[in-house]
Amino acid sequence: MLKSSTMKIDVLTLFPEMFKGPFDQSIIQRAQEKKLVKIQIHNLRKWTEDKRKTVDGRPFGGGVGMVLMIEPIYKALKELKNKKTKVILLDPRGQVFNQKTANKWACFDHLIFICGHYEGVDERVKENLIDETVSIGDYVLTGGELPAMIIIDTVLRQIPGVLGKKEAAQKESFSENLGQNLLEYPQYTRPSDFKGWKVPEVLLSGNHQEIKKWQAKKSAEITEKVKSSKEEK
Ligand code: ADE
Repeated sequence: MLKSSTMKIDVLTLFPEMFKGPFDQSIIQRAQEKKLVKIQIHNLRKWTEDKRKTVDGRPFGGGVGMVLMIEPIYKALKELKNKKTKVILLDPRGQVFNQKTANKWACFDHLIFICGHYEGVDERVKENLIDETVSIGDYVLTGGELPAMIIIDTVLRQIPGVLGKKEAAQKESFSENLGQNLLEYPQYTRPSDFKGWKVPEVLLSGNHQEIKKWQAKKSAEITEKVKSSKEEK
């Protein structure tokens, strides 16, 4: 069951400006205008009390780099969280995010994303303050901001009304496929012949049954190819 009211998303970050471009354009911007989602980006420094607005410290026991402190995160969550909130920490050591997780999270009323930075986050945050640690893949970025944007984008397009009618109809056919874990078939548009590179004849035939058959076959082929390339790794 998908929820019906406005979804709330809060992001805790040291770099709020990074979110300006991606969330102020296209489908995500429209979703905010339509009040399907309310996204608020917060600077973690807001929850510091010293003059220098310190959010990080040297690791106990030594080591290179700095570690995000627990206190500003604790205070931020105290202010923002309610009983229905899911708190997610972006971290390369987390469970790898996928479509299934996106579908699940789209049903929540309130998500809070904490963007890790520097060498990491005080482990007590993970132990005591959050519900899930998530990674976008087995590689390390400079911080959790880009992963948060990717995850939010993926979650939002699952919310009814976020995609336009055309996009939704298209998605519908993909998720029929995704139900069987099939990926999208190849698509073409005008011109049908570009410098001798031709669109497959069947797509120009007008024979809908044959077209559907071709699309299903291509979907299965692509899915198999991606699956075996993943298995090789
Ligand atoms: N922070 C740095 N790398 C990350 C990753 N792969 N996923 C989530 N957060 C990260």
